[in-house]
Amino acid sequence: MPKRFVPPNDDVCEVLQQRLYDLIDLASHAKQVHWTVQGREFLALHQFFDNVNAELNEHADIVAERIAALGGQVKGTIQAAAKDSHLPDYPLDVSSAPKHIEAFSSSIFQLKMLVRASAKLVADLNDNGSADLLSELSRKIDEISWMVGAQMEPKTREAT
Ligand SMILES: [Fe+2]
Repeated sequence: MPKRFVPPNDDVCEVLQQRLYDLIDLASHAKQVHWTVQGREFLALHQFFDNVNAELNEHADIVAERIAALGGQVKGTIQAAAKDSHLPDYPLDVSSAPKHIEAFSSSIFQLKMLVRASAKLVADLNDNGSADLLSELSRKIDEISWMVGAQMEPKTREAT
């Protein structure tokens, strides 16, 4: 009987695990906006950030299952993510839409940079499957980032 092939993917799993922490964290940032945003655009932002939370959770699931498929041990609790996330702490005293957009934009910008670097890193480690997965994630993060940024008042957007 052939031996089960377990590729030596510890480095790739570690890169994926780091991004999983960030995705779990960012998904919670989106829920924080969903629950606390106030103002004239409440309904649109409340619904938008619920969708963002769902999309981030979906991608966290894909990343976690890739780690499992590579033979790694997934660490997927909120406690683990809170300890090792690379994102800035989300402000808990914010309710106005512009402040939420600003705070979320800074979180997602951080993740955007990290995912791009991670895609390159795993490609250099010759794991094209994981590189594809992270490129797909990178496109999704770009899309969410654009949609969040487009909700900034034009003046704020031009200043950043
Ligand atoms: Fe809800």
